[in-house]
Amino acid sequence: MQPSVLQRYLAAFARMYGWFSFDAALLFMAYNQLLSTAGTSGDTLEIGVYHGLSSICVAALRGTGRKFYAIDLFEELGTNDAYGAGASYRKIFEDNIQSMHGTLDFVIPIATASSNLKSSDFTPSFSFCHVDGGHSPKETLDDLKFASDILLPGGLLALDDYFNPQHPGVCEGALDFMRYQEGVLTPLAIGFNKVLFQKQPAPAISLNSEFARSFAQVRHQQTTMWSLPVLLFDTPLRAYFDLYASTPERLVPLGDAGVRAFFSNDKALVKTRRGKSFKLPITVKNVSAEPFPAGERVFGLSYHLLSHDGLTMRHDNARSYFAAPLQPGAEIKLNLNVTAPSTRGRYQLEIDLVWEGVMWFKDAGNPALLVALEVR
Ligand SMILES: C[S@@+](CC[C@H](N)C(=O)[O-])C[C@H]1O[C@@H](n2cnc3c(N)ncnc32)[C@H](O)[C@@H]1O
Repeated sequence: MQPSVLQRYLAAFARMYGWFSFDAALLFMAYNQLLSTAGTSGDTLEIGVYHGLSSICVAALRGTGRKFYAIDLFEELGTNDAYGAGASYRKIFEDNIQSMHGTLDFVIPIATASSNLKSSDFTPSFSFCHVDGGHSPKETLDDLKFASDILLPGGLLALDDYFNPQHPGVCEGALDFMRYQEGVLTPLAIGFNKVLFQKQPAPAISLNSEFARSFAQVRHQQTTMWSLPVLLFDTPLRAYFDLYASTPERLVPLGDAGVRAFFSNDKALVKTRRGKSFKLPITVKNVSAEPFPAGERVFGLSYHLLSHDGLTMRHDNARSYFAAPLQPGAEIKLNLNVTAPSTRGRYQLEIDLVWEGVMWFKDAGNPALLVALEVR
């Protein structure tokens, strides 16, 4: 097992600067997947790439053999409060893209103010554009005009900060666009500081109906924007997907990839005294098709301490690390070190495998083992 692209991307959010969230990335990927399943894929473009945190996602949405266009001033930003102190962030941008995509071959950086772009200089071959550059009404209007011109019919346009009260210019510019080119962009979805629009005329298939069908478990609300029904996402999308099995092209709903590990033990109830440490024998069987990783501080068995009604009381506890990879079909018996809480009562131990810095198996849809704990 190796961390997946999405797990590496999620980890990158802790070290790369940007104004993007991992849940926005999943929103983009989900709709892009539906669009490409419906037969539309092409080049992708972002206005306002900064250090590339969102570009990593937008670049991954391009079709096979297609390009990613990165538009930014790429200027030294000096002491500009909005973007932090200068340095050459074009180099940071390129390093970040390279670190996730392994190459820059498909990237076309264009260092200019977006107002200098002419849609007539581009082929209308784009399936996804992310507009996150200047936030004034005029910049927003111009960027929407440009991006909507180069999109394929049915292509997607994500606009940043439409509902952000710190940037009212975005909403003003977008409404100007709606009046100027009524019906060209129709809103589809709102979430994670983005509004997702679709270029009209679009193929007959409704991406929102497809979303509800393909990702039925994802919680959302229905609302109205620009007099049209849209989906509103207000819970983190990462909670619904198996990030190990998913790729940017194909999100796998939690549980769909099947069980990877079975846990078993002899006792459904353990009785002990307050604060006591003891060893709980647990058998782990690898029922996946890949060897489990191994190593101190890499991969092992652990547990979360839950209240008797399932609330997490202590998330991180002692680990029993695997000394060697566990092969598919093989099982191992480990002694899990458990320390009872110092207050008497009834609890649960939620026993699970942890891959440090990557995932708990339960978060990727694998059922954990629950053992009742009675502390006297
Ligand atoms: C909010 S940051 C982008 C954040 C990035 N998309 C992310 O999610 O991390 C805005 C970027 O837009 C660029 N920018 C601002 N005005 C611009 C313009 N008129 N043309 C092109 N880029 C512009 C800035 O240089 C900055 O890098």
